[in-house]
Amino acid sequence: MLQNKNVLLGVSGGIAAYKACALTSKLTQQGANVKVIMTESATKFVSPLTFQALSRNPVYTDTFDEKNPKKIAHIDIADWADIAIIAPATANIIGKMANGIADEMLSTTLLATQASVYIAPAMNVHMYAHQAVIANMKKLESWGYHFIEPGAGYLACGYVGKGRLEEPETIIETIKNHQAGSALFSGKKVLVSAGPTRENIDPVRFFSNRSSGKMGFAIAEAAANMGAEVTLVAGPSQEEISNNNIKRIDITTAAEMYEAMLKYYNGSDIVVKAAAVADYRPKETYAGKMKKQAGDWNIQMERTNDILQTLGDRKENQFLVGFAAETSNPLDYGKKKLKKKNLDAIVINNVAAEGAGFSGDTNVVTYVNKQDETKNLELASKQDIANKIMQFISNDMKGETM
Ligand code: PMT
Repeated sequence: MLQNKNVLLGVSGGIAAYKACALTSKLTQQGANVKVIMTESATKFVSPLTFQALSRNPVYTDTFDEKNPKKIAHIDIADWADIAIIAPATANIIGKMANGIADEMLSTTLLATQASVYIAPAMNVHMYAHQAVIANMKKLESWGYHFIEPGAGYLACGYVGKGRLEEPETIIETIKNHQAGSALFSGKKVLVSAGPTRENIDPVRFFSNRSSGKMGFAIAEAAANMGAEVTLVAGPSQEEISNNNIKRIDITTAAEMYEAMLKYYNGSDIVVKAAAVADYRPKETYAGKMKKQAGDWNIQMERTNDILQTLGDRKENQFLVGFAAETSNPLDYGKKKLKKKNLDAIVINNVAAEGAGFSGDTNVVTYVNKQDETKNLELASKQDIANKIMQFISNDMKGETM
């Protein structure tokens, strides 16, 4: 996985800089070409010569120390790198990266690189828990940077807690797994539906449901991060996408979602239907705002098309995954939907469970495939659940047991 990869290792100024020496050595043993950039503070902990000897490459510490007059070093290294690892990453370098500050060689190179960037923080436990650091990390994560969480234990500052640089072996394993995962769906087209639909009564009133779109958007992001070309058909939602490999198509009604899903269905390899589509819509939509009158107002409702059933009936080579939102006997009802709608797998969402279902940031689901293999996913963020669902789909498509 790392053989012949160009790895830029950024070392910032923390006591854990000594562990970056072992990391350099292990990366080169795995066949990677390693170039090290150190911040000035890092050089107070470890000598550049150590990294030079371990990487067998010159070490960069100063933006203006141009070793080759034909090249501008920070741009050259930024372009050269396939992967950048910042280990240890101090609160300072994280803050600079999150705010576009480029005032020395490492931060300047990181601003210029297009490589996948992995950040392994190491700092005092209270610094790691500080809102400024948390906000900076969240910002970087939303821009596609990957964090390798620090471990917990005895810290050099005397505290015991979270903040210890992850071990070099674990950093390498995490990066290798992530790199493998990012190619999991390369060349595959994934169609995802997300969010609610709105069924209009008149120009100001509609029927809808509590879906926020978070689950479906997380699926779309997970698939795109794993290399897929994603089309996301989204009902009205506040959610935003950050991956360029996602084409977003906004719809409002179940009828519009039906049209959009069928349009992209034939070219898709995988379809995941996380949307909460209205089963009924008003039989009549009034052109003008309805005036209130004395007494009750009865609205006659008619069925919408069952999009998932249509996709199941017309299935050719697609791997079709439905969701089931249930409040009682979730497994029984979910498995019935799996069969009836000719699905390859279903994600059963007991929306009555604590922390699960509509609107929140977390979910609890059960993934069942058509071989009746069942996988329970405990309470976790919708992003984590989405990653696992995509992993299960990949395993099922390869015929691997879960
Ligand atoms: O969006 P969030 O706030 O993050 O919430 C996530 C969620 C709860 C909406 C999601 O996890 C979920 O459970 N989605 C399915 C909701 C639903 O409508 O379930 P259902 O059991 O009614 O429908 C079963 C399946 O048929 C679903 O894949 C649905 O997209 C599909 N369907 C339903 C009706 C219809 N007319 N056409 C459909 O395709």
